[in-house]
Amino acid sequence: MQIRSINYINFRNLKNNKLEFNSKFNLFLGKNGQGKTSILEAIYFSITGKSFRTKHIKEIIKYGNLNSGAMIEYTDKISSKSIGVKFDQKTRQYFFNKNKIKFDEFIGRINVISFIPDDIYLILGNPSLRRSFFDYEISQANEIYYRNLRDFDKILKVRNKFLKEGKFKDPLFDVYNEKFVDLSVKIIVKRYEYIKKMSVLLNLNYRKLFSSDSELKIVYKAFKDISLKDENYVKEEFLKELNNVKNHEKYRGVTMIGPQKDDFLFYLNSKDAKAYSSQGEKKSIIFSLKVAEIDMFIKEKGDYPIFLIDDISSYFDSIRKESIINYFKNRDIQIFLSSTDDLGIESMNFYINEGDVIEPTNS
Ligand SMILES: Nc1ncnc2c1ncn2[C@@H]1O[C@H](COP(=O)(O)OP(=O)(O)OP(=O)(O)O)[C@@H](O)[C@H]1O
Ligand SMILES: [Mg+2]
Repeated sequence: MQIRSINYINFRNLKNNKLEFNSKFNLFLGKNGQGKTSILEAIYFSITGKSFRTKHIKEIIKYGNLNSGAMIEYTDKISSKSIGVKFDQKTRQYFFNKNKIKFDEFIGRINVISFIPDDIYLILGNPSLRRSFFDYEISQANEIYYRNLRDFDKILKVRNKFLKEGKFKDPLFDVYNEKFVDLSVKIIVKRYEYIKKMSVLLNLNYRKLFSSDSELKIVYKAFKDISLKDENYVKEEFLKELNNVKNHEKYRGVTMIGPQKDDFLFYLNSKDAKAYSSQGEKKSIIFSLKVAEIDMFIKEKGDYPIFLIDDISSYFDSIRKESIINYFKNRDIQIFLSSTDDLGIESMNFYINEGDVIEPTNS
């Protein structure tokens, strides 16, 4: 998968433009506040319909304008295609080969992985951040998981409403409860499977990239510490636990266990990274996680995702930076980076000044 070009209109501070890319390293250079992150955001946005730095897409529309959009041209194994999003304060329209399509038909056509300074909150932040992150990742590779999650959210709301209103004896409660159990178990099992594979890859990458004698792992904390056997086993345990918290749920009027409560913890050399790891180590853990995601995609989809790295120079010291660049040099992956300083690598360089991208040069 390769992005050939991007076209953006009224996107942040960027001057409307079309940029053409090379197939390897594309580097956006400029001083603080010039628009480097905005370009990476535009690429991410045209592929996912989302931003990696805000939930409120109206923030993206250039000040004083009513709508905005970003469109990319790309090639997959077969042919050239285009994909993009146009939006205003309230609505988003998705396009594929210039035809309007629904979000469900839009999402997942290209896989993109981003690494931005705020990603450190994946370790520092609260569990809901980690859940959203891993849910999104698993969903990208697994459509059934995505549908199960969506259904689960709806069922959970209904179940909570019944609990809040004290309607446990309502026969409909049993119907919803059964669905709740069924979807919870499916989601938990998928998360277990994913984390198990991811943890191995994460450790490999951390060792390769940053520290060969370290041991890094992710642990999935579900309703109870069980090692995965199969769906039936998890279901039995889940039902037992649900029974244990029954009175508590009635008293509190809210669902007490389930995927909505789970967490994912990082352990570096057997120590909880949130509490013990240094800033640099935390950044390196998340970077290794992103690289592990790339590996996972390649395995599952047989194709390379696009990789975005924002602000690489502020993240890593020169040794770690070099290690990262060397790692990607020989891999068949298209990378978009931003930096305030030249990286001294073979790349297509785009200089950005007050939102204006100056004709690229090769270095
Ligand atoms: N909706 C918007 N319309 C116009 N300008 C905006 C909008 N949102 C943000 N900006 C401005 O765009 C500029 C570029 O922001 P951006 O985050 O892309 O800079 P950057 O080059 O990544 O800087 P840094 O090196 O500090 O990370 C900032 O001055 C910001 O205030
Ligand atoms: Mg930036």
